[in-house]
Amino acid sequence: MSKRQITPMRPVYPSPAGLVTCADATGKPNIITLGEIFNLSIRDPVIVGIAIAKARYSHELISATGEYVVNLPTVRILEAVDRCGSVSGRNTDKFSAFGLTPVPALHVTPPLIEECPVNIECRVRDIQVIGDHDLFVGDVLAVHVDEDCLEGNRIRTDRLDAFCFINWEYRAVGDRIERAGYTRS
Ligand SMILES: Cc1cc2nc3c(=O)[nH]c(=O)nc-3n(C[C@H](O)[C@H](O)[C@H](O)COP(=O)(O)O)c2cc1C
Repeated sequence: MSKRQITPMRPVYPSPAGLVTCADATGKPNIITLGEIFNLSIRDPVIVGIAIAKARYSHELISATGEYVVNLPTVRILEAVDRCGSVSGRNTDKFSAFGLTPVPALHVTPPLIEECPVNIECRVRDIQVIGDHDLFVGDVLAVHVDEDCLEGNRIRTDRLDAFCFINWEYRAVGDRIERAGYTRS
């Protein structure tokens, strides 16, 4: 098959579309939609990174406070996800404007978003200047999961109604194909 080179832009896919909460010095919260969310260290320690462009209000807030919460949404609140990625918290209270509910976190000032079944509290350990985005590297302090999406300590992803961000589209997460590592046994 013949291939052609294209101009690269966000070449790796898919990514999550997460709602990251942060707060100003008075505790007033903001929300930013992010496609660039990464598991940087998976168990010991657990570290989740986020990449944010310098111009975003959330960049300013997280740089100042060193705290954020990664909230993983469902299709039910897709419109709010898109809207939180279209306006700035500099002039909009995104919680009230888009019908989202703040819930106090355990370890950090930014709130959890009730409508998201998974909420990951993070504290910044490092900020790396990368390119047009900076990478915030955050230690995970707590992971909250809706009871009805849990089986023991395992998240039932089939019950999450999750979606991903791919090629500037939101797409549903499809059917399970196989268990990872299935060729080993
Ligand atoms: C699906 C989607 C993914 C996005 N991903 C990122 C991202 O990874 N990094 C980033 O800096 N901005 C990203 N944005 C843009 C910000 O969400 C947007 O500029 C937002 O309005 C900034 O809000 P703030 O000024 O309140 O921080 C994304 C927007 C959408 C809709």
